Order: sequence, then structure tokens, then C-alpha cells
Amino acid sequence: MTCEKDIQCGVNTPHTEKVEDMSDLEKKHAVLIECPDKVKKGELFEVEIRVGEYLVHPNKLSHFIEWMELYQEETFISRISLTPEKSHYIFKTSLKLEHEHPLKARVRCNLHGVWEAKKEIEVI
Ligand SMILES: [Fe+2]
Repeated sequence: MTCEKDIQCGVNTPHTEKVEDMSDLEKKHAVLIECPDKVKKGELFEVEIRVGEYLVHPNKLSHFIEWMELYQEETFISRISLTPEKSHYIFKTSLKLEHEHPLKARVRCNLHGVWEAKKEIEVI
């Protein structure tokens, strides 16, 4: 859903999964979701969302990540709001799933809009 006319419009994703082929802008804003590939139905597990893993994203008043959100498909699960200079771009939380839909993380940069990643997760 990347809008080619305006980075602040729509939801951005890197054009490739290969880090070496990403632009510096994509490296700074690529979102990572770390969690098990397979979880047990109704059992808590941990999820970690990070941004700026491939190239450090600025963290100053004029340019920073404002928030990070976690969804299961389109269902909202959790959110953190961030403060420039004081916070770091790691969001850890626990959740339990009752059935299978991919996890989705979204982060918003004040200058470069919303960026998204998805991760398939098997619920057994
Ligand atoms: Fe940015």
C-alpha cells in the first residue's frame, strides 16, 4: 500500500526483503517482528518489534519514531508511544492467540510516515 507520490500517505514497506538491496531510507525504517514461528493456542508468548535494525534511525526532536503498534491481521493488539531522545525503538509484549492470522507491526516516523512488516505465525 505504499503511495509513490507521498511517503506520508499510505503504508510503506521496503521494496525488497534483501537488506543489501534496500535504500538507506528503507534500512532505517524497516520493521522487524521477532516471535516464534509456531505457538500453542491460548498460551502466552513474547513478541519483539524493532526498527532501525539495519541502519540506525534518528532519535531527535526533529526526526523520531512516534509509535509502534502490533496487530493480528487487522485486529489491534497493542501500542506504545515514544519520546524522542529518551526512548528506544524496541517494543516487547506478550500475547496469546486463539487462531491463525499473520502478525503485523506498524511504526510511524514523524517525517517518513507509517512503515509495516508482517510475519506468518502458526497456531497449533
Ligand atoms: Fe524517519
